Amino acid sequence: MNILLIGSGGREHALAWKIAQSPLCERLIIAPGNPGTAHHGENTALDTGDHAAVIAFCHSNRIGLVVVGPEAPLVAGLSDALIEAAIPVFGPTRAAAQLEGSKGFTKDLCREHAIPTAAYARFNNAPKAKAHARVQPLPLVIKADGLAAGKGVTIAATLAEALSAIDDCFEGAFGAAGAEVVIEQFLTGTEASFFCICDGATALPFGTAQDHKRVGDGDTGPNTGGMGAFSPAANLTPEIEAEVMARIIRPTLAAMAARGTPFTGVLYAGLMLTAEGPQLIEYNTRFGDPECQVLMMRLKTDIVAVLLAAAEGRLADVSPEWHAAHALTVVMAAKGYPGTPSKGGIISGIDAAEATGARVFHAGTGIMDGALVATGGRVLNVTAMGATLAEAQAAAYRAVDCIRWDDGFCRRDIGAAWTR
Ligand code: AMP
Ligand code: GLY
Repeated sequence: MNILLIGSGGREHALAWKIAQSPLCERLIIAPGNPGTAHHGENTALDTGDHAAVIAFCHSNRIGLVVVGPEAPLVAGLSDALIEAAIPVFGPTRAAAQLEGSKGFTKDLCREHAIPTAAYARFNNAPKAKAHARVQPLPLVIKADGLAAGKGVTIAATLAEALSAIDDCFEGAFGAAGAEVVIEQFLTGTEASFFCICDGATALPFGTAQDHKRVGDGDTGPNTGGMGAFSPAANLTPEIEAEVMARIIRPTLAAMAARGTPFTGVLYAGLMLTAEGPQLIEYNTRFGDPECQVLMMRLKTDIVAVLLAAAEGRLADVSPEWHAAHALTVVMAAKGYPGTPSKGGIISGIDAAEATGARVFHAGTGIMDGALVATGGRVLNVTAMGATLAEAQAAAYRAVDCIRWDDGFCRRDIGAAWTR
């Protein structure tokens, strides 16, 4: 079958690498892809915002499955357009993608179905939001309602910070995403990422991971899209996973189906493991980036068989197999990230890094005058396996140290809190 994969990040390079290994995949096309995905299929410059163009492309290339990587095309309704054109797609409809596209939508759904999550209130203007913030205990969490690339959340330790985060949202720091604001109570605990593949009716647990959201070592500095991850999560037990399925995932899937907007695709629960049990921090409706990279390294089963089963409503018959080994990925980012990254720096040493046994997934890279250069904030994901988390970590950093890139940086402590 011919497969079209949408996206251009490290997540999509990992998916392309895994999809290309499937005996079910005859031809893989990635739109737009990156220099890494070009090793596993054909990159194409297709405007994925132009749904009619995507449908025409699928017809002329006899595409049997579209896999949507990032959230923006989902929230923009690409899956709806493909479903209407009878083209199989892995990824939720616009209505189902609201679980990621609107934090307020998800919080209301949790309240209605008693799904454990932080207490909250929603606001569409600054004066009311500020009046609320003034009477809440600190710290307080201020969130832009819509998509903000992982940057729309402020943990305010003081009232002044909370008020200024509210101003930022309503003054347009996150564009339309900030027209509505959610104010939440701060939860204490450790975080875990829990993934399920869903077909509308069935949720299939599909691996766990821990992300590192802050830019600096020791979890300091601003939030990013993620600076490194490992899998499996070190803080989830089978008992907690069963509780997450029973109290969070299954009620969500049932609620979405009951609303007439069944959820198909990846349901990614960001969890806080608190003294009172697991609580939902947020949902994403796609694979995590960089969590996908570590999941794909550990997945034994043919990913295409799983994605097709989800798209066709057959997930109840699927049981994925995983390597017992641990996987860990270190994100190499361009100096300046998560602010304005320094672009154009030349990168070398990828072959040497991969000769150690690691895998280097590309994110923001490009080719200029024959050289590999940085074109974005998060640029490379250096990913390795090991019998233990500590071994995976050592292997990943051995590979990181083979890469030469003057404008790059990475955290040196991915996984460290769990290997000491
Ligand atoms: P989100 O984009 O909603 O996942 O939030 C980004 C990060 O902010 C999370 O990974 C947490 O580290 C932190 N965060 C969000 N909401 C809360 C909360 N209610 N309590 C504590 N930390 C939070
Ligand atoms: N790494 C966090 C995310 O993909 O949302």
